[in-house]
Amino acid sequence: MIRIAIDGPGGAGKSSVAKAVARELGIIYVDTGALYRNIGLYVLRAGIDPKDSAAVISTLDKFTLELRFEDGKQVILLDGEDMGDAIRTPEVSMAASAVSAIPEVREYLLNMQRDTAKKNSVIMDGRDIGTVILPKAEVKIFLTASPEARAKRRFEELKSRGNTTVTYDEVYNEMVERDTNDSTRKTAPCVPAEDAVILDNSKLTLEGTRDEILKIVKKKSKIKKSLIYTVLKPIVAPIYNFFICSRAIGLENIPKEGGLILCANHISAVDVVTIGAHTKRQLTFVAKKELFSVPLLGWLVKSLGAIKVDRGAGDVSAIKASVKAAQAGRILSIFPQGHRYPAVDPAKTPIHHGAGLIAYQSGCDVIPVCIKVKGGKYRLFKRTEVIFGKLIKNSDLGFTEGGIAEYKAATEKIFNEICAMGGYSDLPAPTPKAKKKRK
Ligand code: DC
Repeated sequence: MIRIAIDGPGGAGKSSVAKAVARELGIIYVDTGALYRNIGLYVLRAGIDPKDSAAVISTLDKFTLELRFEDGKQVILLDGEDMGDAIRTPEVSMAASAVSAIPEVREYLLNMQRDTAKKNSVIMDGRDIGTVILPKAEVKIFLTASPEARAKRRFEELKSRGNTTVTYDEVYNEMVERDTNDSTRKTAPCVPAEDAVILDNSKLTLEGTRDEILKIVKKKSKIKKSLIYTVLKPIVAPIYNFFICSRAIGLENIPKEGGLILCANHISAVDVVTIGAHTKRQLTFVAKKELFSVPLLGWLVKSLGAIKVDRGAGDVSAIKASVKAAQAGRILSIFPQGHRYPAVDPAKTPIHHGAGLIAYQSGCDVIPVCIKVKGGKYRLFKRTEVIFGKLIKNSDLGFTEGGIAEYKAATEKIFNEICAMGGYSDLPAPTPKAKKKRK
């Protein structure tokens, strides 16, 4: 999981750049300003002065506001209806700014915003994301630019939306007024969090700003590959893949950042190597404690940051460490079957509920992985396929309040996806023709 907070004044380009970063990282973008804008619009339509706190507060139980995500895209429904561009007018901007200064309005929207970030990796933009909504966000950025540059951008944006009556001076004056409102209000003023990186993009393009932010995310998210991994992987992976004729399908399904759980069928002790040989990001995996004391292998396993598990003792600390690793933004590779079942169709093996438990506690999404080898056993120069399935969102795993029944159901769901990608034995050995084609 990764949470990126982008705060800053209007017109700094937060939403365009946050969308671009979200696309790049494969995470969702949450535009919190749109929530305030919907309330601003409701209040205006109800004929209420947005500065009249008591009147605004009295409307809060008169409408419904729903924040959801459809295909990763934010949708806000005010009384069941998407307000579209109606929330983007200068009048609504001023109304949103006024209602956002009312503590009760902020309280009303608080959990909606926090809950979204609990269930998903997000990049969220607003004014108080790093200070109030997500004070523990892994990355905080305060994006700003000179008032002139911001007013120019807003003016162009309004023109491109078909507004031909507004002038640059009007936009500039409104922007300065809104800046003052937003940054001097008592509750959650628009100020940088102490640990935010301040980025002035007056002279940067959208792409330039996006790249700066991606650099900051990389640096801050602290997921450093171990030195041994960085040095060994480029040498060992191609050799390994060559000997077991391994190829990957669906690598694009793996997000570039953020915690994630890879769940695979389990054939052999080297499955984690087979998967890791294809992934760009380093995997965190669980290894039995006995391995840690084997000379050389123990050192290697330790250096790769493996989590030690005492298999006999149903190791709680290994579960905790796994959850922590995924929450810290790592990719955790686990095997729901718990044991190796070479040469047995995975659909015919028992599964445990650990994967569901870790998914529930970490809040991370899951990618089902199917390792296919002819006959269910790795052999030199026999074809191997590693299929990375479509991402299963944590919110689609059916968790409500946790508990073994939910963990089991979630693990089954994940495992069914693995099985649906095929068992071991349905992988045909490459024919001479297919071999030629692959070349
Ligand atoms: O980002 P925007 O211009 O769409 O935001 C509209 C108004 O909402 C802005 O003037 C201040 C307010 N707002 C806020 O107070 N806190 C947020 N997290 C987001 C927006």
